[in-house]
Amino acid sequence: MNLKNTSNTYGSVIKFLHWGMAIAIFALFGLGVWMRTLTYYSPWYKPAPHWHQSIGVLLLALLVFRFLWRLANERPNQDFLKPFDRIASHTVHIAFYALLLVIMVSGYFITSVDGSSVDVFNWFSIPSIYEKQGAEEIAGFIHWTLAYAIMALAGLHTIAALKHHYVDRDITLKRMLPNHWFNSSP
Ligand code: HEM
Ligand code: HEM
Repeated sequence: MNLKNTSNTYGSVIKFLHWGMAIAIFALFGLGVWMRTLTYYSPWYKPAPHWHQSIGVLLLALLVFRFLWRLANERPNQDFLKPFDRIASHTVHIAFYALLLVIMVSGYFITSVDGSSVDVFNWFSIPSIYEKQGAEEIAGFIHWTLAYAIMALAGLHTIAALKHHYVDRDITLKRMLPNHWFNSSP
C-alpha cells in the first residue's frame, strides 16, 4: 500500500481524504439545507448547526493538510489525456480547494461575527476575531451561493470521471479507487 502518489496512481492518503471528504461535504450540504427548515421548537434546532459547524471546522483542517500533501506529492501521469481535459481537470481541482476554503471561512463568520465562539464538538472552541452587526447576512449569502456552486462543480466532476471510465475507458477513475479495483475492467 503506497501512502504517497506514484507516477501511475494516487496514494492511499489522497484516496482516503478524497472519498471521506466527498461524503462529508455532501452530508454537510444536506444537513445545511435541512437545518434551515427547523423551527425554534425542534429538538434539532441547536444540535444540527452544532454538528454542521463542528464537522465543517474539522474539514477545514483536513483541507489544509490535503493541500500541503498534494504539494508534497507528484501528480500521477496525465499524458494520455487531451490537452483540454488536462487543463480543465486541473482548473476544477484548484477551484474545489478555493471554494471549499471560502465556504468554510464564511461559515465561521456566520457563527462568529456576533461575537460568539465556534464550538467544535465541545472539544475546543475558536474565538470570534471580527465583530460587525449585520455581517452574518453577507457571510450567509456567500455560504449559500458557494454551497450550490460546489454541488454543481461536484456534479460536473462526477460526470467527467464517469465519462473517462465508461466512454474513454481510461484509468482516470480506477486510480482514485482502492487498489484491488485498480485492475478490474470498466
Ligand atoms: C464544505 C463545508 C460546508 C458546506 C457544504 C456547508 C453547507 C451549508 C448549507 C447548504 C447551508 C444552508 C444554506 C441556506 O439554505 O441558507 C449551510 C448553513 C450554515 N452553515 Fe454551512 N456548510 C459548510 C461548512 C460550514 C462551516 C465550517 C461552518 C461554521 C464554522 C458552517 C456554518 C453554517 C451556519 C451557521 C449555517 C446557517 C446559516 C443561516 O442560518 O443563515 N458551515 N451550510
Ligand atoms: C464534493 C465532492 C468532491 C470533491 C470536493 C472532489 C475533489 C477532488 C479533487 C480536489 C481532486 C484532485 C486530487 C486532490 O487534490 O485530492 C479530485 C480528483 C478526482 N476525483 Fe473528485 N471530488 C469529489 C467527488 C468525486 C466523485 C463523486 C467522483 C466520482 C464518481 C470523483 C472522482 C475523482 C477522480 C476520478 C479524480 C482523479 C482525477 C485525475 O486524476 O485527474 N470525485 N477530486
